[in-house]
Amino acid sequence: MKVKGKMSLSSRLWLDRQMHDPYVKRAHKEGYRSRAAYKLLEIDDKFNLIKKSKYIIDLGAAPGGWSQLLAQKSSEDAKIIAIDLLNFDELPKVQQFIGDFEDEANQQKIIEALGQKADLIVSDMAPATVGHAQTDHLRIMNLVNSVYDFALNTLAPGGSFVAKIFMGGKEKQFFERVKKDFAKAYFFKPKSSRSVSVEIYVVGISRRASVGSVSDCMSIPQYAEKSKKVE
Ligand SMILES: C[S@@+](CC[C@H](N)C(=O)[O-])C[C@H]1O[C@@H](n2cnc3c(N)ncnc32)[C@H](O)[C@@H]1O
Repeated sequence: MKVKGKMSLSSRLWLDRQMHDPYVKRAHKEGYRSRAAYKLLEIDDKFNLIKKSKYIIDLGAAPGGWSQLLAQKSSEDAKIIAIDLLNFDELPKVQQFIGDFEDEANQQKIIEALGQKADLIVSDMAPATVGHAQTDHLRIMNLVNSVYDFALNTLAPGGSFVAKIFMGGKEKQFFERVKKDFAKAYFFKPKSSRSVSVEIYVVGISRRASVGSVSDCMSIPQYAEKSKKVE
């Protein structure tokens, strides 16, 4: 392929990986906009979050794979608010904002558009990586802590939370926060997440109405960390 010859090595490796990736092939075949859709599918198969959620927020939604799945699996009257720095093609049930989630004005727009406390907040956001593992880890942990602050203000009692992080040291500290505020907390590494990737998802199930009740935290095998009870 002539085009290939002009590509950088990293671009060529990326293209080769994409061409041979079974989840990329499956996404094409099944009409999903991203292979990432299978990560949320696996999370939902395990924790059954989408079907029971009516008011949903999708953070870092482009090109729309997670939003597609949220729209498909939620009830007909569900309302999904999605935001990304990038535009993506419209989807039924999904109201889209283009902009930076970290801009407070955009967070306000999301809250107003939803018009209710959320049942489910998912975040697949990651800042553009710089290739230095510790820097990338710290940057995503900063972002996910903002997402989490937003989630605590925006989720209804009983609501759930899913967010991507990169492992690198600070994930346990973050997990402690989630354990305090949710009845159950998990680390979850979907099979569709490449094994060489430090990416992992934190799942908080059933936001407590008030902090202080006894938790029932467990982790999933693979990247499991057995959680301790919170007093
Ligand atoms: C892995 S992609 C999401 C894929 C998506 N879940 C899907 O299934 O199609 C991560 C997205 O996060 C977005 N993102 C990163 N930082 C953001 C921010 N501060 N505000 C809004 N979007 C952001 C990026 O633009 C990118 O589209």
